[in-house]
Amino acid sequence: MKILVLLAHPRLRTSVVQHAMHRAIAGLDGVTVRDLYADYPDFGIDVAREQQSLLAHDLIVLQHPFYWYSSPAILKEWQDLVLENGWAYGPGGTALAGRFMLSAISTGGTGEAYHHEGRNRFEMEELLAPFNQTAWLCAMAYLRPFVIHAGRRMQPEDLSAAVESYRDLIVGLRDRRIDPLSMLAPDFKLPPAFAKAAA
Ligand SMILES: Cc1cc2nc3c(=O)[nH]c(=O)nc-3n(C[C@H](O)[C@H](O)[C@H](O)COP(=O)(O)O)c2cc1C
Repeated sequence: MKILVLLAHPRLRTSVVQHAMHRAIAGLDGVTVRDLYADYPDFGIDVAREQQSLLAHDLIVLQHPFYWYSSPAILKEWQDLVLENGWAYGPGGTALAGRFMLSAISTGGTGEAYHHEGRNRFEMEELLAPFNQTAWLCAMAYLRPFVIHAGRRMQPEDLSAAVESYRDLIVGLRDRRIDPLSMLAPDFKLPPAFAKAAA
């Protein structure tokens, strides 16, 4: 699979976890990594370029720190402008049908906090529902998210191991050693147009 990683971190210079994740996948064959804040410091997203870039890839990875239970702002701007009606969804909007979407996220909170009894009250996958449904509307398959919880508080060797598992996942998906359809998010039913496009 050809993989496009859209990295969104407004302060990559001070980043620990996302920086390490970025380093782990930078330069891999078949994996394009784009730093959205570097490309669009003023949020002037080039819609045509982004749409061409999406068409050239099979798996779109949204890689970002968890900010206010969602993504940093540029990724929202990117979705608002790039995923156009009639292109990504709506009448005639089948450009992305049959492709895959994966969220690759770092959080400040621990894994235990992301449960109904925990301090964040919701599971990660519940909080990621807007991304899941965005993929569905675009007839894409939304995969179980890759999450590094509380990476800044990890021992360096534990963070290295977590980042290594991110690289292994990306390489496994690229080489199709990992079947993306075995990684569907819980309760995710493939959109009818996905199967048609993939056939
Ligand atoms: C503006 C802002 C909002 C944040 N919101 C959350 C949040 O909702 N949940 C959470 O677990 N961590 C939150 N954090 C912590 C970051 O997710 C965490 O520091 C980051 O993933 C660590 O990666 P980095 O070293 O690449 O920055 C937030 C941090 C900032 C600066």
